[in-house]
Amino acid sequence: MTTPRPDVPQDLSVPVPPPGCPAHDLGPDGTHRLYGPVAETDPPAMYELLRREYGPVAPVLLHGDLPAWLVLGHRENLEVMRTPSLFSRDSRRWSMFREHRVPDDSPLRPMIGWQPSCVFADGDEHARLRRAVTDGLAQFNRHGIRRHVTRYTHRLAATFAARGEADLIRDYAEQLPMLVMTRLLGMPEESGPRLVAACLDLMKGTETAVASNDFVADSLRALVRHKREQPGRDFADSLITHGSGLTEDEIVHHLRLVLIAANETTVNLVANTLRLLLTDRRFRASLSGGQMTLPDAMEQVLWDAPPVSVIPGRWATGDTVLGGQHIKAGDMLLLGLAAGNTDPRIRPDRAAPVHGNRSHLAFSSGPHECPGRDIGRAIAEAGIDTLLTLLPGLELSVPAAGLSTTAAWMTERVTALPVRFTPRRDLDALPVPSAGGRPRAGGQRPPAPGVAEPATTPTATARRARWTSLFG
Ligand code: HEM
Repeated sequence: MTTPRPDVPQDLSVPVPPPGCPAHDLGPDGTHRLYGPVAETDPPAMYELLRREYGPVAPVLLHGDLPAWLVLGHRENLEVMRTPSLFSRDSRRWSMFREHRVPDDSPLRPMIGWQPSCVFADGDEHARLRRAVTDGLAQFNRHGIRRHVTRYTHRLAATFAARGEADLIRDYAEQLPMLVMTRLLGMPEESGPRLVAACLDLMKGTETAVASNDFVADSLRALVRHKREQPGRDFADSLITHGSGLTEDEIVHHLRLVLIAANETTVNLVANTLRLLLTDRRFRASLSGGQMTLPDAMEQVLWDAPPVSVIPGRWATGDTVLGGQHIKAGDMLLLGLAAGNTDPRIRPDRAAPVHGNRSHLAFSSGPHECPGRDIGRAIAEAGIDTLLTLLPGLELSVPAAGLSTTAAWMTERVTALPVRFTPRRDLDALPVPSAGGRPRAGGQRPPAPGVAEPATTPTATARRARWTSLFG
């Protein structure tokens, strides 16, 4: 669903549709639908409406009018995230599954159907599976990732730099994370574009979500077969050899998990941060004044337009009360990350800057807190930083008020960012860091993708000069 929306600063005072407005999409029992064209027109307004009507926890309907609770309060979200004994990650507990009320082709299945991955596990089993993931991710660090990001940013920018115009969402943000992730996972580069399309489709919960899910799983099974024949030094290899003793199925599911968890989230972070930088006067002024950094801008986005708005979910292990609502054993809870971030109890003035305050919910909290947060931030930061260096005089080519957002029940991001800049025809000729790092002495192995080597990063002064030339 696409609809014109004002840019971020204007979003801060979200209008709430009046009760009884025909735009409200209600199920047969009068409960609000969280899916469909009406709810997805303006999710923040929907959250405010629900908050007003129900308080910090609201009943909602998902695809097929299946019931769930949307957690809107910041405190209540943290309580659910940090109390796994009451709020399990095991979706097989959902009463709707137990009562066979979720059709086989439901678009919810790819996201919440139980799989043998750490996402759906609790306790010791979760710790065993998660350790394999975190140990595998630990081999990558900022400098190594930065090298890949710089290289792919050069490559993507070279496809449009000569035109002096581009759509930074289609031509850049939607491409970069999957290119980097396929490389870190150890997949062939040419897998990138088809996987991007399949992952995007899968998260949107469209009718083709199930087929896209199958395509992603098949590609990953082929990767594992290949890695067993030709081992390397990347994430796939580390899962295969990890001491947690992952089964074949678990290896494939964790590869899929990392690919999907990393891609759409990082695309959205790049997209929404670029929007903020290109549209928000407060950032222009402070950036050219030298006070605001790119990480500050990203932090603001993680509060106001988090890459995932709603996380499904947690399942109640017993009857309990949360935010004044009576939750029954087997009920599903959706973590409302975007709604929790704008809870008036913690942000009475949403226009107030959030510098240095990292208590947003964008990466969740508790045992399932995102283990890839530093990688996601590193891709977004290095990508945007490099892009700004490559495109002098970058500015929006449409009025900021004309930008629209694309929303689905779990995510929301700016649809397109048409920009213009000084055309360049020399990008192909510029030296680009190679993927394997510097030439190495006799027979030494190159580093695993993303593994640290000394890297040249722009100095603070050079960055400041770039911000100033962009906005000054
Ligand atoms: C800016 C980018 C990202 C954001 C905003 C983000 C956000 C999240 C959120 C909200 C969760 C759900 C936690 C829960 O259920 O409570 C999650 C889980 C996860 N994320 Fe991320 N993520 C990002 C990037 C990444 C990247 C780059 C990777 C991998 C390289 C990654 C890997 C994972 C994994 C494996 C999980 C499941 C953890 C578990 O269940 O124990 N994420 N992420």
